[in-house]
Amino acid sequence: MKTHQFEVIVVGAGGAGLMAGLYASKTAKTAVISKLYPTRSHTGAAQGGIGAALGNEEEDRTEWHTYDTVKGSDYLGDQDAIEFMCEEAPGIVYELEHMGLPFSRTAEGRIAQRPFGGHTNNETGVPVRRACYAADRTGHMILQTLYQQCVKNNVTFFDEFQVLDMIVVNGKAAGVVTIELATGELHVFHAKAVIFATGGYGRVWEITTNAYANTGDGIAITLRHGIPAEDMEFFQFHPTGIYKMGILITEGVRGEGGVLINDKGERFMAKEEYAPHVKDLASRDVVSRAMYLEMKNGLGIGGKRYLYLDVRPETVNKYAALDGRTNPDGTPYTVTADDILSRLPDIIDFCKTYLGVDPVVDPMPVQPTAHYAMGGIPTNVKGEVVIDKKNTVMPGVYAAGETSCVSVHGSNRLGTNSLLDLVVFGKQAGVNAAEYARGTDFQPLPADPAGPAREQLARLRNSSGAERISTIGTEMKAVMFDHVGVFRTEAGMTEAVEKIRELKERFKHIRLDDRGTVFNMELLNAWELGNLLDIAEVTAVSALTRRESRGAHARDDYPERNDKKWMKHTLAWLQEDGVKLDYKPVTFTKYEPKVRVY
Ligand code: FUM
Repeated sequence: MKTHQFEVIVVGAGGAGLMAGLYASKTAKTAVISKLYPTRSHTGAAQGGIGAALGNEEEDRTEWHTYDTVKGSDYLGDQDAIEFMCEEAPGIVYELEHMGLPFSRTAEGRIAQRPFGGHTNNETGVPVRRACYAADRTGHMILQTLYQQCVKNNVTFFDEFQVLDMIVVNGKAAGVVTIELATGELHVFHAKAVIFATGGYGRVWEITTNAYANTGDGIAITLRHGIPAEDMEFFQFHPTGIYKMGILITEGVRGEGGVLINDKGERFMAKEEYAPHVKDLASRDVVSRAMYLEMKNGLGIGGKRYLYLDVRPETVNKYAALDGRTNPDGTPYTVTADDILSRLPDIIDFCKTYLGVDPVVDPMPVQPTAHYAMGGIPTNVKGEVVIDKKNTVMPGVYAAGETSCVSVHGSNRLGTNSLLDLVVFGKQAGVNAAEYARGTDFQPLPADPAGPAREQLARLRNSSGAERISTIGTEMKAVMFDHVGVFRTEAGMTEAVEKIRELKERFKHIRLDDRGTVFNMELLNAWELGNLLDIAEVTAVSALTRRESRGAHARDDYPERNDKKWMKHTLAWLQEDGVKLDYKPVTFTKYEPKVRVY
């Protein structure tokens, strides 16, 4: 076992981890640990844009961005945190630009912006161009830019190191334990502050946009240390994943004028019961539910469980004319095939590669796909992890990005706000962790800091049952997709909770075949499956208990939002005998809850 010492350790090298590492490294000895090579992190899959009211293409205001985010969250987002994020947005986007991020440009050379779901001019209710984009590779560009900056700033990277445990001494962070994938050797990282930026956990579901690596490692580790997880019932289904595969087709397609079409050829989002005003640019929860209802009513294409996303120039131009959509200079909005090719090159490539479909000449078959965790490790706006309903800070522990819950997304996130969240709060976590490290000493390490992690791996390795992790994983994903998905019921979620508990029992009796130490991915996949099962249980129990519909949590049996009873955040603790729940108030500043109309 090797031991290293850094003042700040960042776990995860996506956008939040790199931003945290960059800022911490300005004043503290910092290392970033990642189970991947950093530029392969899942932030690279974010396509359509980062939200900021720059007003480069038309009038926009930070207060409009704030209100849209509060409304999009179905009023569960903490308004102080949302105000902070939206006010920081323009400055941080220019900061990324000055670091070298190659944004797409307007004719005048400014950062180009496109419309995205739920982002509006608050005076007219019309979609506003707020998403700053680099074609449909915005996340990829953020990742490359931040990685270059970290290298320039001498951040130390430990690539392909999987975190296994956090070391806690005297109630404070003292480091983490990792396994080096190439050798199987355990490494202890002694630190004053630990920042979790381990991303989401979309791999709990069968159809997902999420990478294989998104197994909720930070949340699972903190749950095992008695830290609750917040608002786990709110998991977003993105409306447009490639049929059966789940791969993301950016909302930027609809921002450029693409529309969703049912089997009758109708642009169904315009129906009175869905979103007659903003139509295909309603918030994601609204669009995903409309798609499910269309398919339930037999209007999936050919009666199947998919719909068409149509961005062919003739379709875009037809509906843009019907909507009266104009360019910033007031001329009618039209697109050519070349415009589509230059603004959406990656999704055209994906569709050709995976489906043999060219979106410039054919509509794309799409279905809702598990995309984003609104919940996660509870933090305050400084990125400090808080452990109870009084928001008590756990010294030295920080979290940022999708693994955390600040909560700026409440029960439903607006597109483009995840990239914003991860750079804004990644920076906060980095700055504040470094400051904390300056004012504190290293905690003494326990006699065998890697002991619990070593035992955990030994249990998996030596388990001599007959269960296969692939079977357990497949059954978990199916039950979560069927019963803790876009629409939920008491009976379905009860079945899901029972099934997950059965799977957790069976997980104690697995058999692994790989006895090696070099890149033993079977062992690591087993460890990750343990995380996913814990998270699935916490998610399903939190969802079963919330008897209302709000944002991404839509119940057939409780279809209304119930502010009187449920305007509160869920806190869930994982215990030996199940999940314990408590609740904490939502922070309001000036926005009173209203019924959402799109
Ligand atoms: O649709 C998209 O491009 C995804 C963006 C996001 O999740 O914010």
